[in-house]
Parts: sequence; structure tokens; C-alpha cells
Amino acid sequence: MCGIVGYIGDKKAYPILIKGLSRLEYRGYDSAGIALLENVDKINLYKRKGKVQDLVDFIGDESTVGNVGIGHTRWATHGPPNDTNAHPHYSGNSRIALVHNGIIENYDTIKEALIKKGHTFTSDTDTEVLVHLIEDIQENGGVSLEEAIRIALNEVHGAYAIVVISKDEPDKIIGAKKSSPLVVGLGEDEYYFASDATPIVEYTKNVVYLEDQQIAIVDRKNGLRIISTSNKEVSPYVQELEMELEVLEKGGYDHFMLKEIYEQPRAIKDSLRGRLNAKEGWVSLGGIKDYEDQIAKANRIIIIACGTSWHAGLVGEYYIEDLARIPVEVEYASEFRYRNPIIRKDDVVIAISQSGETADTIAALNMAKEQGATILGIVNVVGSTISRITDAGTYTHAGPEIGVASTKAFTTQVSLLAMMALMIGKKRGTIEDERFQRLIEEMEMLPTKLEGLIEKSNEFCITIAEKYKDASNALFLGRGNNFPIALEGALKLKEISYIHAEGYPAAEMKHGPIALIDEEMPIFVIATQGANYEKVVSNIQEVKARKGKVIAIITKGDTTVKELADDYIKIPDADDFVVPILATIPFQLMSYHIAVMRNCNVDQPRNLAKSVTVE
Ligand code: F6R
Repeated sequence: MCGIVGYIGDKKAYPILIKGLSRLEYRGYDSAGIALLENVDKINLYKRKGKVQDLVDFIGDESTVGNVGIGHTRWATHGPPNDTNAHPHYSGNSRIALVHNGIIENYDTIKEALIKKGHTFTSDTDTEVLVHLIEDIQENGGVSLEEAIRIALNEVHGAYAIVVISKDEPDKIIGAKKSSPLVVGLGEDEYYFASDATPIVEYTKNVVYLEDQQIAIVDRKNGLRIISTSNKEVSPYVQELEMELEVLEKGGYDHFMLKEIYEQPRAIKDSLRGRLNAKEGWVSLGGIKDYEDQIAKANRIIIIACGTSWHAGLVGEYYIEDLARIPVEVEYASEFRYRNPIIRKDDVVIAISQSGETADTIAALNMAKEQGATILGIVNVVGSTISRITDAGTYTHAGPEIGVASTKAFTTQVSLLAMMALMIGKKRGTIEDERFQRLIEEMEMLPTKLEGLIEKSNEFCITIAEKYKDASNALFLGRGNNFPIALEGALKLKEISYIHAEGYPAAEMKHGPIALIDEEMPIFVIATQGANYEKVVSNIQEVKARKGKVIAIITKGDTTVKELADDYIKIPDADDFVVPILATIPFQLMSYHIAVMRNCNVDQPRNLAKSVTVE
């Protein structure tokens, strides 16, 4: 939710900020703005409703002088997306400019108090209140910008990542964070601020991930200094980025989503590397190795996540209960944190998150931690908040996912959960040796099977997309561990093509959704060979009897469903265990092509943001 950037150095700040904002646009894209410090009397501040490109067009030939600056791309919380609510925001005297990602919960009370003191506000945002508060403290207390920011941050409640510049201290840029992420990049006599490392990696690999309630003060003379909001000096912990620049580009694909779909064989290979070996017959997850015993002895595993990551968690429930025989509960983080759940010390709580920054998931994890449970993470973004607050965790290694609709993050999450289930099952002796061996062989074959599947099915998916692109509703059905894939298929279609879609366990259809079926309604069914095959065939018969259009995912060699279905896509023959990963691919591709054909913005669907850092 919202992306922020900042720069101080000898280079021109404008192109760095604009490029940075484009990289962060996945975090919000309803308005954008920048402020460039030209000199002690002049800040060039431009902001505009719309995308970063709209901002660039709006700026046109205006002055972009300045080698200190801040920028913002917004996902609206307080006030609609318009030019006025866009960031940066000025203090009342227009001497301080600030960008903010997060929510100041007590902004109303502060605003009222400031209005009584004579402040006037132009926007509806909580951010404008914060910058006025800083100004007020500075003017009335006669303190430095850094001290005014520190005092102000002690007065606000909620979440923030901010970057601030001031005409009065033109050789400084100050950033701070609580609950929203902020990274500082350390170049040669230059410093970068950003919500994640993607705007920074092009210039330097040395970064500091700020911790909550830390303030980073950069000044040209003395470089970087970090203090806490309680005014204690903190020594910066400099880490080296492993990210490469190429992964942030589209690399010849029309959209990041398509690129990321095609990256899945590589992503899963990276996810399996060093963690599973069929020849030697082992599975080992280094990141949680020290917690293996604790997990194996857990009375219960609770998985918390949101959206697509929650769907991966549901597949994990099937895997872990089947192979390791430990009860698993999969919880929406937003519900879990507010419903007074029973959490015991011998519970193991696993958070799944691509971004590692989802506000509800973080809050739910903190709650579980306070109640004494062991908390683990399955996270994609290295160095993200969840990866830092958990007792231990394991990275999915999918690489940066930029398309807002999650694809490779999902399939790598499912592969990790599969490995986790195999690892715990082996440790607890609840999986027979022969099955263990067979399943790790299946896992190892996944990248090759996925490669062939993506290549072969893309054309079929285009043909199917053409046929069903004008549908208003769609149903996705699956059984067993493919039920969550039906949910995920429906989510993918609705979020990028705006077609209403629902996922259901196939057998539940007759308890309600069957009423929706008519000859207009496409019904996507996972009907692969395996334990539930016969049952799914009966469900397809029920659909056909009501003239519904069936698009089936079938196993290569199948003849029964091939005959029954209106359209079909074949996936390679595989054990039921890995079918959820394979069956996901055609749903991703079909949704992608339908969205493209409907002229939707595939990588940045309306109203969505990649990183949901507000609750
Ligand atoms: C859908 C999607 C979202 C995310 C959800 C959780 O394609 O991407 O549903 O899965 O917002 O985000 P993370 O995994 O970053 O916690």
C-alpha cells in the first residue's frame, strides 16, 4: 500500500525518483507525486491523480532541478484519489515536504488540536496532519527537524514509513518507520530510501532495513545515523542485496504476470534446491531445521495468511494432515486476530506471505507470539517484516513478484508446504518409506513437467479465453487438495478480468451454486485422474445436465472427461500430491488471456495493491 522513495547525493534526483516510483507502482497506483529540493527557498512539488506516467506527462518541461528529493505512489486510504490528496504533503509554511505509507489512526484528534492552533488543511489525508504536527513542534519547541520528527512520531498511533525533506535543512533527508517497511540504500556519498529494495538495487547492493520505531537521518557531511524514537543511537546493520536488476524488468513479455507465470519452473527449482534430493532420499528445510522437533511434536499447526497465500495454506492443510497426521487450522489473518482464538504454547503458527508485509498477517503473528506459540514464516521477500519477526522461517525463493496477481509466489508456497509435510511426516514416521520416496521424486520432476505444461497449454488457453472472455460469471470446481486451486482459479479470474467468479468444492455445487448454471455459465473443473476422479466425473454430468459449459483440466490420456467437456486442457500424468501445482497453471494462463482480451490492466488491476500494509 503506497510506495515511497527518497534520494540525497550528487546526481539529479528526478530520474531516480521516477524510476523508483515505477518499480514501486505495484504497491499503489491511484496517484503519484514528487518533491525536489532545488535550494533553501525552493521545493519543486508535483503531484497528480493517476499513474507515475501521468505524473511525468504532467511535469513535462517544468523544472526538475535538485539532488535531494522524495516521491510517492498512492493507494488511497484517507480521502479519494485526486491531485490534492496525492503525496508529498507540505507543512503549513511549505518548508517541509513529507511522503507517507501507512495510517495515522489518531489523526483526527491531532488535526482538531492543530486547527485550534490556527493550522489549515487542504487535503483529507492523515499524512498532511503529520507534517503539520512536525512543523508545529519545530516552531513552538525551537528544535531541529530530526527532533521534531522524533517527538511527532511519539504522538501518533498507527503505521508509518515516512521520508521528509526541509528547505531549512537542505543537506538532510530523514526517514522513519513503524509497521510499514523502509529500506535505506548506501551508495558512494549518496543515499536512497524506498519501501523495498527494487528502486535501490540498480545503484547499490548495500542496504539497511530499518526496524520499527527507528529514524534514519542522512546528512551530506556525516552520512547515515540511526536513532530510535526513544532517542537511543542504533548501529546500522548493513546487508548485501542478492537481487539482480534483470528480474525487475519485463524481459520481452507483455506483462509481468505472464513473465512470472513462465518463471514458475525456475522458481520451483530454486525453491527445491538444496532442500530435497530424490537420489539420496531426503528433504530438509534449513531455515526451520532447529525447529523440526518442535514442529513434529506440535499438538496443532495454525496457518495464517490472506488471499492467495491463504489458498496455499489450505493446500498445506491437506498435505500436513495427510502425511504428518498433525491437525492443521488455516485462518484468515484478519479474522484470527480479532476473534480471541485459543492459542497454546505447543501450537506452531505458520504465516504465509509473499510480501512479508501484510498488516493483518503481521498483527496475527504478533498476537500468537505474545501468547507463547512458536511462530514461523513462509515468505518470499527477503528481509521483510515477517521474515524478521518470526522465530524461524523459510524463503520461497520465487524472486521478485511484480504483477499484482500472485502466480509464482503461490506455486512456490505450495511446494514449500509440500516439502514441510514430507519433512514432518518422515520425522514422525507417519509416511511409509515407499510413498515418501515416490513423492520426493514427483517433486523433483515438477520443474520439467511445468516447463512442458506452460509451453503446450498457452495456445489452448488463448483459444479458451477467446470463447469465454465475455462471460459475466464463472464457477471453479475442485475436490480434495484441488479445492483450494478452484478458489485460487476464481480469485485470479476475478481480480484481473473483473468477471465474477466463485470457487467451490465440486460436491458442494449441488447445495446452492447449481442454481446459477445455465448455457451462459463457464464452469472450470479440475478433473484429473486420481482419488476423486469418479466423483468429479459425476459432478461434471450434473453440470452438463443443466447445459453448463465445462472447461476441464484433465490428465494426459484421459478419454471420459475429454468426451464430456466442452473444452479441456491436459496436464502431465502425476501423483495427486503435485497436481495442485500443475493444475494452477492453466487457470493462471486462462485468466491472464481473458483479462488481456478484455483490455484490463493485468499487472495493476483496479483498486488493488501488491502489498496490503493496512488492515
Ligand atoms: C492475489 C494476491 C493477494 C495476496 C494477499 C496476501 O493474487 O496476490 O490475495 O495473496 O494480499 O499478500 P501476501 O502474500 O503478500 O501476504
